[in-house]
Amino acid sequence: MKPRVLIIRQMPEAALAVVRDGCEMQYNASDRQLSPEELGQAVADKDGLLCVVTDRVDDAVLASSPALKVVSTVAVGYDNIDVAAATARGIAVANTPGVLTESSADLAWGLLFSVARRITEGDRYIRAGQWRDWKLMLMAGHDVYGQTLGIVGMGRIGQAVARRARGCGMRVLYHNRQRVDASIEAELEATWVSLPTLLEQADFVSLHVPLSPETVRYIGEAELRRMKPIAYLINTARGAVVDEQAVIRALQEGWIAGAALDVFEHEPDVPQALRELENVVLVPHIGSASVATRTRMAVMAAENLIGVLRGERPPNVVNPEVWEAGN
Ligand code: GLV
Ligand code: GLV
Repeated sequence: MKPRVLIIRQMPEAALAVVRDGCEMQYNASDRQLSPEELGQAVADKDGLLCVVTDRVDDAVLASSPALKVVSTVAVGYDNIDVAAATARGIAVANTPGVLTESSADLAWGLLFSVARRITEGDRYIRAGQWRDWKLMLMAGHDVYGQTLGIVGMGRIGQAVARRARGCGMRVLYHNRQRVDASIEAELEATWVSLPTLLEQADFVSLHVPLSPETVRYIGEAELRRMKPIAYLINTARGAVVDEQAVIRALQEGWIAGAALDVFEHEPDVPQALRELENVVLVPHIGSASVATRTRMAVMAAENLIGVLRGERPPNVVNPEVWEAGN
């Protein structure tokens, strides 16, 4: 019997082709997010699940299918999946690192420029019919060139962000639990500093840590108050890495100059208070969303999925202990 697979969202044909070949496929072509109950029911008779960042795959979902062998997410971050519970049940969890690094770094930079130079604000201004006269200081923002960039989380994406800073003549500071190799620091001309130092010195603070128990609300009121009032916060990591309410107050009360946010605590809900502020750029979790990259991610997730179902050990399994335990 062919393995049965649930594909939870619309996927590019190239990814479906990978799965269709050897599997019996249930496909949520409606592209609507399933409720936890619907997800549990849909997965109950499946061997594999292909999911996305908005699907909460907790132990109850994992427990609903005795046959489940793999959960493959079309994302690098897998905080939406209870990996420990999956490991305990012998279920492999796979993700899509690497292929989205450059697209994600591009978006962080797009947001950085947008908020510093008030690009989305200017766009709203024109569309609202407010532009009647050119003025010397109209929409005057802050320079990017020659400023100090602070990168929090120096994994693949943080490094790709740092690499782009060269062209902008920026000083690059970074904070990471562990310093990266000296050769990488030298190539990127990036200097490790403590988090407080980074927050005090950076003109732009860009977040690139995964969401984990250690990084929940990593940037809260105390951290925001440490930033310069002329500094900007860029978050393309996960919403819960910052204290969203504290960010709102920081923007309202001018502790910082502005923020650009790709991710939110309760997506797709974006607090009304944020939507009312002019000094924040808001985009709907599109860090890796180029056509080419999202397609590559979907294909990679599909390959991870069928790899496990064929009894192979694909390279992007985040809990390889499942094999070491002899499964
Ligand atoms: C998207 O947020 C991802 O983790 O790939
Ligand atoms: C993601 O790929 C990261 O390590 O930053």
